[in-house]
Amino acid sequence: MEVLGIDIGGTGIKGAPVDIASGQLTSERFRLPTPKGAHPEEVAQTVRAIVHHFSWRGRIGIAMPVRVHNGIARTAANIDPSWIGTNIEALFSRTTDSDVVTLNDADAAGYAEIHYGAGKDVPGKTLVLTLGTGIGSSLFVGSTLVPNLELGHLRMHDTIAEAWAANSVRKRENLSWGDWAKRLQEYLSYVEFLLDPELIILGGGVSRPKRVRNYFHLLGTRARLAPAHFQNEAGIIGAACAAHSRNT
Ligand code: BGC
Repeated sequence: MEVLGIDIGGTGIKGAPVDIASGQLTSERFRLPTPKGAHPEEVAQTVRAIVHHFSWRGRIGIAMPVRVHNGIARTAANIDPSWIGTNIEALFSRTTDSDVVTLNDADAAGYAEIHYGAGKDVPGKTLVLTLGTGIGSSLFVGSTLVPNLELGHLRMHDTIAEAWAANSVRKRENLSWGDWAKRLQEYLSYVEFLLDPELIILGGGVSRPKRVRNYFHLLGTRARLAPAHFQNEAGIIGAACAAHSRNT
């Protein structure tokens, strides 16, 4: 059983068919740049081009950096505000003429880790944090998702957490790994206090083994802390997995 997974980000839109039993991509992923301004209609046309590239007929899972309630985008951080209130499930179903399931990108990354990666078969609560341009978050109780957490938007230091501790901030402010790890530690202590998970998985580009060496040893949590198993493909794999899980 295969489902097409698509991950919409601020700079690129990428997709690939995913084998649901293994969580593996069955073809090389295909990426197109996100259209300038990232307005709904243009993004939908790019999604359509990805679907055509694979000559796809069947279910599609699509992940985006928005809160999704019953197919409707309720927030839009780091993308155009015109997404808010858009029925993205209806929009993408119409433009691709397919059965589409949509969800938040961090929720998708969480699905990938819980089903095939660092959170597989872990009982209790698992928190997945993606550290990129923003901070994405997803919480699972066993393999059940608590959707749309948006813990990257918690207030911290007169701003929101992702504007203070995301990986993009480390780059922008030219922080040393040690200085960034201090910020991340404060954030982790905060979310750990709120949710008391058994496992925290850190994802995004900084979960690559060669990056993990720079800062993981500087972090301390009561919860077990693990780097994500997937990086670039987490959104694609998780979107496909979530789409498959919906009503099946
Ligand atoms: C958005 C989230 C998203 C995260 C990672 C945040 O700015 O609010 O919806 O999951 O970035 O892309």
